[in-house]
Amino acid sequence: MARDNAVYACQACGAVHAKWAGQCSACNAWNTLVEEVSVRPPGALAPTKGARRQGLAFETLEAETPEPPRIPTGIEEFDRVCGGGVVPGSAILLSGDPGVGKSTLLLQVTAQAALRGASVAYISGEEAIEQIRSRAGRMGLAQAPVKLAAETSLRDILEALKREHFDLVVVDSVQTLWSDALEAGPGSVAQVRACAGELVRLAKKRRTAVVLVGHVTKDGQVAGPRVVEHMVDAVLSFEGERGYPFRILRAGKNRFGATDEIGVFEMGDSGLREVRNPSALFLGEGGERAAGAAVFAGIEGSRPVLVEFQALVAPSAYGTPRRAVVGWDSGRLAMVLAVLEARCGLGFGDRDVYLNVAGGLRINEPAADLAAAAALASSALETPLPQGCVVFGEISLSGEVRSVGRMELRMREAAKLGFDQALAPAAAVDGSPLAVSGVARLAEAVRRIGDDAWVRRGVKA
Ligand code: TYD
Ligand code: MG
Repeated sequence: MARDNAVYACQACGAVHAKWAGQCSACNAWNTLVEEVSVRPPGALAPTKGARRQGLAFETLEAETPEPPRIPTGIEEFDRVCGGGVVPGSAILLSGDPGVGKSTLLLQVTAQAALRGASVAYISGEEAIEQIRSRAGRMGLAQAPVKLAAETSLRDILEALKREHFDLVVVDSVQTLWSDALEAGPGSVAQVRACAGELVRLAKKRRTAVVLVGHVTKDGQVAGPRVVEHMVDAVLSFEGERGYPFRILRAGKNRFGATDEIGVFEMGDSGLREVRNPSALFLGEGGERAAGAAVFAGIEGSRPVLVEFQALVAPSAYGTPRRAVVGWDSGRLAMVLAVLEARCGLGFGDRDVYLNVAGGLRINEPAADLAAAAALASSALETPLPQGCVVFGEISLSGEVRSVGRMELRMREAAKLGFDQALAPAAAVDGSPLAVSGVARLAEAVRRIGDDAWVRRGVKA
């Protein structure tokens, strides 16, 4: 029989329901509702007897609030994504697929911060001390004065953190923690929410920066890190495409910095290596670029990044042509294909289309439209783009090529890496270090690509 104060929490999305149901009405997942006893903190909403009510005092927006000081960890790519170092007393969630390298990254971050004089603790509920030690040894970090513990009991962790002050504490992972104040098992929504809540409170009170690791799981059996997202100051996700050594750290939410910043790492034998110049990495060895390849001059956060879009347009063997895309939005691909058909006379109705962003990066900028279109047109026309050419620009449904932000920065980066021309919005022509073929409409761009003379002129001697 259900208890009076029982509620049902979805283990996948964290939504709380008053009644049990087979399907969560918030996220549509099946069989994820689990009974929890909701405990109202004593006197939480009840009026306090006898106590004089203070009322609400309003403040002004204007005040001398100094910029929060930062703890630089020494891993620059990590610091930049955090907004210039970790803010004392902040709570950060680092989420990612199992095996992507979260523990490795945080071990390096804590070790480097400790070597720079910060007092740092690394608490693991997933690995034994021996395992962490041997990993640190392999990465050459055994000398770093990091305080290490293997513990899953929230009570013991809180006690230790109250006894001794730390600047930075990593808890790996939040799903392994359990509080003896709750009946629910470790990894359930109730446990994850309660444990994260306690640690965030401690972070604020003791001005200890706390980094919580959260696994992203798809099956819904273990509470996803989603329930923690609204409690923390920053949500960082660590991503990597299967089969590539590159790892991207992205800020999805950040109360102390920009959210479009990325950090780039490469996983090697001795841990993660910071990649200071991602363009060189994503462009690969160079060599001759074939038909279907277009180099996109993009911006990720504050940094320009050059990546190659690769398209293959081939006759379809079956009735329904295939569309497959890696690293870009499939809806956006459908739109670009439709504009190419309707405004430029390139037909894809009986052809398979594959589009791939090289290197495992995911591109979200609308500025990539023209690069994708150029790659597709180049493959369809079987004409390579000029070798030293970069492409950027947004495409509208009417077939116009619109200008995009920070065009000069994009072209300067391209020039630095040896490119000498750009296929870009007409507005990019002024003061560019490159020879710009400015186009106002996508049809013009497609004509240029099909024009052998333009292509040959662009080939460097
Ligand atoms: P890990 O940090 O344990 O992942 P997570 O904490 O996100 O689950 O990293 C696991 C993977 O990283 C594992 O497949 C091995 C690989 N790895 C290396 O390739 N080189 C290294 O130096 C280390 C430490 C790990
Ligand atoms: Mg781990």
